[in-house]
Amino acid sequence: MINQLMTGAATRAQRLRTQVRNSAVGSHLRHLANRRNTPGIDFVPGGRLVTLRADWAEELEEISRGEPHLLTKTAADFQDVARKGHILVAVDRSENSRVVGCIVLWPLGQDESNNYWFELGTFMVRPEYRFGSRTSKAMPIGDTLYQYILLLHRHRNILGTTTNRRAVHTGQRHGMQMVSFQKLPPSIHTATCICPADKMQTDDSMQCAIKDNGCRVRISFQTWMRMGQPTQLSWTE
Ligand SMILES: CC(C)(COP(=O)(O)OP(=O)(O)OC[C@H]1O[C@@H](n2cnc3c(N)ncnc32)[C@H](O)[C@@H]1OP(=O)(O)O)[C@@H](O)C(=O)NCCC(=O)NCCS
Repeated sequence: MINQLMTGAATRAQRLRTQVRNSAVGSHLRHLANRRNTPGIDFVPGGRLVTLRADWAEELEEISRGEPHLLTKTAADFQDVARKGHILVAVDRSENSRVVGCIVLWPLGQDESNNYWFELGTFMVRPEYRFGSRTSKAMPIGDTLYQYILLLHRHRNILGTTTNRRAVHTGQRHGMQMVSFQKLPPSIHTATCICPADKMQTDDSMQCAIKDNGCRVRISFQTWMRMGQPTQLSWTE
């Protein structure tokens, strides 16, 4: 009985902590702290990208081509999301505004209640700038990109799918809530499950063998609140 009460209290405390960290004030304070930990780096949202060097989109295409785990995106793809304001790009001001990373909200369409949804993706940082790179340029640029795009788009419904446990860890640091794919609105579930048949081990994406197992969907904290706090899936890796 006492154990149950203590577990319940710990869960409520953890939820309150997540709520405070992801509130408007908490998110802005965390962003300020992140900026202090990434000296020389600017985080440029879509609309401001025209002020960057002319070849920013080609640079991003080049980085994405070097990443075997990412779908290659072309410069035209990046320019398209920039026009809509759905990309955040990290640039190194001390290196002539060299493009060093980005994160994108790819549109998934509207759900049955006419709400637009977006998928967090094309999250990448040049190897020498990564947090774990042990170089002089190692900084929490990935974390800052992730946290800032969620802050800028708090009002949007955002999800992320992944088979990569590292990506799950990153999401956990930013309040992403792991739920079952079945909790997504049906049209959004269909829109996000577009893996090739050999990965799903079936032609029917609704029967995918790795769903909620090797492959996880997480939704932003604000989306989870708007959805009425659906049951979270446990994660221990
Ligand atoms: C994903 C990516 C952008 C993250 O870059 P990063 O934030 O600089 O972090 P690193 O890759 O150096 O991560 C090394 C470790 O440090 C952790 N880490 C990163 N920032 C951290 C921070 N601010 N505080 C604590 N730990 C941190 C990471 O979570 C990871 O640990 P884990 O594997 O135990 O979870 C980068 O690895 C990348 O570009 N990868 C290739 C593209 C890719 O695979 N993208 C993800 C698709 S799902």
